[in-house]
Amino acid sequence: MCGIAGYIGPKPADQVLIVALERLKYRGYDSAGMAVVNGELHLRRAAGKLKMLADQIDASPVDGHCGIAHTRWATHGPPTEANCHPHLANGGRFTGAVAVVHNGIIENHDHLRRELIEQGCIFQSETDTEVIPQLLATIYLGDSTAAGDPVATVRAALARLEGSFAIAAIFPDHPDRIIAARQGSPLIVGRSRIKDGRREMLLASDIPALLPHAHEMAILDDGVIVDIRSSGAVFGTFSGVPVDAPFKTIEVTADAVSKGRFDTFMEKEIAEQPEVLARLIESRLRGEALVEPDLGLDLAAVNHIVFLACGTSWHAALNGKRYLETLARVHVEVDISSEYRYRNPVASGGTLVVAISQSGETADTLAGVRLAKAKFIPVIGLVNVVTSTIAREAAGVMPLFAGPEIGVASTKAYTAQLTALYLFAAQAAKAKGLLSPEAERKLVTAVRKLPGQVESTLKNSESAVIEVADLFAAASDTVFLGRGGEHPTALEGALKLKEIAYVHASGYPAGEFKHGPIAQVTAKLPVICLCPRDQLREKMLSNIQEVKARAGRIIGVGQADDRELRDLADLVLPVARPDDELLQPILSILPLQRYAYHVAVRRKCDVDQPRNLAKSVTVE
Ligand code: AGP
Repeated sequence: MCGIAGYIGPKPADQVLIVALERLKYRGYDSAGMAVVNGELHLRRAAGKLKMLADQIDASPVDGHCGIAHTRWATHGPPTEANCHPHLANGGRFTGAVAVVHNGIIENHDHLRRELIEQGCIFQSETDTEVIPQLLATIYLGDSTAAGDPVATVRAALARLEGSFAIAAIFPDHPDRIIAARQGSPLIVGRSRIKDGRREMLLASDIPALLPHAHEMAILDDGVIVDIRSSGAVFGTFSGVPVDAPFKTIEVTADAVSKGRFDTFMEKEIAEQPEVLARLIESRLRGEALVEPDLGLDLAAVNHIVFLACGTSWHAALNGKRYLETLARVHVEVDISSEYRYRNPVASGGTLVVAISQSGETADTLAGVRLAKAKFIPVIGLVNVVTSTIAREAAGVMPLFAGPEIGVASTKAYTAQLTALYLFAAQAAKAKGLLSPEAERKLVTAVRKLPGQVESTLKNSESAVIEVADLFAAASDTVFLGRGGEHPTALEGALKLKEIAYVHASGYPAGEFKHGPIAQVTAKLPVICLCPRDQLREKMLSNIQEVKARAGRIIGVGQADDRELRDLADLVLPVARPDDELLQPILSILPLQRYAYHVAVRRKCDVDQPRNLAKSVTVE
């Protein structure tokens, strides 16, 4: 969590950095700050949303062309101004010698803090981060060979830090340099085209924050330090060996990371789903045929798959299991990454680990990837951000092509994950000789209809969604029930409502409801029942009867012409019916995304930046 940015160039650094932070606030948004060099270090920091910092800078701009900035998701110490980054060295001659921003956790901060206090450093925050500028100052102003040299100072300090981090430091003695290092948290260097013999150099935790200034980027690997100056960037390992980090053209546009005509990113991203799915589907088809993904492995030989994922990506994995079992007859386990990483999973020949992650940076999933690799299990990544750590560490990548997802609630990435998993299962079935040419043609026809069905479902369900949101926005609890492929939809619908509208919500497999949770049902409890026309519809109708018999308020999700569902439900959210019922969950989730959005708006919640959360969970 937390976002880092840095800028060196002719523009006012504070103006560039505030926009960069805007693009990074999905990584944390409980406080923000920046430091700009101009003779000395000028600091601006504010607790609360980024607007607080932006207002402070408007009222009191910082004049300077080199600076670092940070948006925080608190780990050590609450989101107060004192705990905001950047942190400065403090105490006697150390005061103001260096400023640092940090993403990650310094595990040995307690020990370092005690040692640094003895050397005269004065601490002003409760953060683990503050040991970094203090340590840097003691080295920079000390008597070792690193003294006075910012890169050597950072290198010497890194040898003392334990944990995972990305850091950036500026020294007022070196007013056009940023020294940054990466060990476990992402960091990217950006550069503009040369204009009037000069370049703009940027640094950020993620690509959107480099836009629109940079046109090329280089990704730092773990264990790399970069010395950024207006003339360019020099990369080296922590031990001083030069590293060649190639710059590549940035493909993402500034438009893709703006809200466009929408008020929130979540609305924009929900609306983008038809085009996202169309792009993804066409990337996996050639004419009427499926194309086997280039994953560097023989899918026919895979007989056991372990999905690793967290949150929404885990819900997608639950349906991925159905797809692979049904189409390719492969044994699949679905594991929550934070559980997998602390077990001692059994590795056998023919096992494949598939890490599913929108961001490709989720710390628990990344740790699971590394554990699997250590056991010589092949790992592939199903990721949206193809420059991410998981994408780079996996042996093969299946990209989602969903474009930047910025709203904290995952929406378009979820339906893209489901579609990608369906295609992956079909491709595995084909590789194993389990898909006849006729079945392949039917499957391709079914999947190609999906974007249109997504579009019509979003359009046709909207008025009913608004009606249900008007009725139940004030309800303090909501239950979601589904069976088979709709059980993950129930979990995902509940997660959306919890995370952006702060409503207590639970998703259950409907057949399990009678084993305890049905005791919650009262005439006030909205129960959202996923009941499309699939093989479990009759069973689901019986489960709905059980809730209705106890006076629960039934909101059905199913086909508009389903008379039985209409008769049982107070209201129905209509969804299109796909040719292949395995695809139905991709349509059933759509009204639930919109429902969570409308309830959040009615409850005056911040849809894109819900409390206590961050988009990318890069701490365990
Ligand atoms: C979804 O709405 C969440 N905000 C969250 O559960 C997310 O899916 C989870 O943190 C996993 O993220 P990833 O897909 O980027 O790994």
